[in-house]
Amino acid sequence: MTLRWGLLAAGSIAEEFAAAIRESEHGTLAAVAARSADRAAEFAARHEIPRSYGGYEALLADPDVDAVYVSTPHPMHAEWAIKAADAGKHVLCEKPLTVSAKEAERVIEAARRNDVFLMEAFMYRLHPQTRKLTELITAGAIGEVRAVDVTFSYDTTGSERERIADPALGGGGILDVGCYCVSVARLVSQAATGIEAVEPTDVIGMAKLDDKGVDEIAMGLLRLPGDIIAQISCGFRLQQDDHIRVYGTRGQLYIEKPSWTFGMRRPRTSTIVLTPSGGKPEAIEVEATKGLFAREADHVAEHLTARQSPIVTWEDTLANIRTLERWGAAVRTP
Ligand SMILES: NC(=O)c1ccc[n+]([C@@H]2O[C@H](COP(=O)([O-])OP(=O)(O)OC[C@H]3O[C@@H](n4cnc5c(N)ncnc54)[C@H](OP(=O)(O)O)[C@@H]3O)[C@@H](O)[C@H]2O)c1
Repeated sequence: MTLRWGLLAAGSIAEEFAAAIRESEHGTLAAVAARSADRAAEFAARHEIPRSYGGYEALLADPDVDAVYVSTPHPMHAEWAIKAADAGKHVLCEKPLTVSAKEAERVIEAARRNDVFLMEAFMYRLHPQTRKLTELITAGAIGEVRAVDVTFSYDTTGSERERIADPALGGGGILDVGCYCVSVARLVSQAATGIEAVEPTDVIGMAKLDDKGVDEIAMGLLRLPGDIIAQISCGFRLQQDDHIRVYGTRGQLYIEKPSWTFGMRRPRTSTIVLTPSGGKPEAIEVEATKGLFAREADHVAEHLTARQSPIVTWEDTLANIRTLERWGAAVRTP
């Protein structure tokens, strides 16, 4: 089957997604919309997209668009994901799906009501590296999991994009990249316990907020099912190594370059280092033939009739956003 995509917004991640559709097996680019017609037309010319629209409503009225990729700043995700679902379009919406759990419930309800597919675009969850990590945990490669350490940050000092620091555009590290840290920590707990869509019992947080209350740097501690403690760290004014470490009773797993760092690069192999307690590190190579975003577009096509992804389920999205809300509140509590 072929899924005809419409891009709702023409920003930086839309550029990557558009390029990736070319490598997908099931996707074609049907149309793009931006708030300005000129910007949409330029984007369409660059990516050889047949139709472009100045305004998102026109894209939703296009009968030759099957699925919409929503990549506005996060506070506008709910409005456009709901409108897309109400227009009968399948929806892949950038992370975080929404800025609150209440909004996420409304988006999910819209997908259910209109009987369309909906997924939050956590493409790293679909990568073979992530699958291998969970397989190793489930197989007991490091014994019982005790702790997780996940970091994702970048430093925009001097080259800041408006979206990242503007409270009106959902600025702050927690929503932008901390959502990955929470997602990974929860996934590790899920793999260790077999409980779906797990949520922490305790959330502790601390942040450096700017003068508008936007979290520039945030750290958190989560107590997760399986008696697992996660330390998570993110920010947009902090240069640290993005990594995943999982510590167990019989060893540890280390991912120096989580798949979300690949962007449009498509390394054929990536590595997970398994170090048994008292033993030597062993590099486990993971093969991947497809890029992250092409994989994501094909995943949508392959699971369209189920209306949700078996990997990034609606319940999982809700659990993630609820945890993000708690982390956001914890760093703002004196
Ligand atoms: N999965 C990933 O790897 C990944 C990576 C980066 C970002 N993201 C997510 O994708 C979303 C967009 O991020 P981005 O980096 O692409 O942002 P960006 O470059 O700033 O693009 C955002 C786009 O949203 C549109 N928009 C609609 N209303 C707007 C408003 N009031 N103010 C500003 N822009 C508005 C604009 O498109 P037009 O004017 O062209 O319509 C703009 O080009 C975010 O939710 C982010 O979390 C995901």
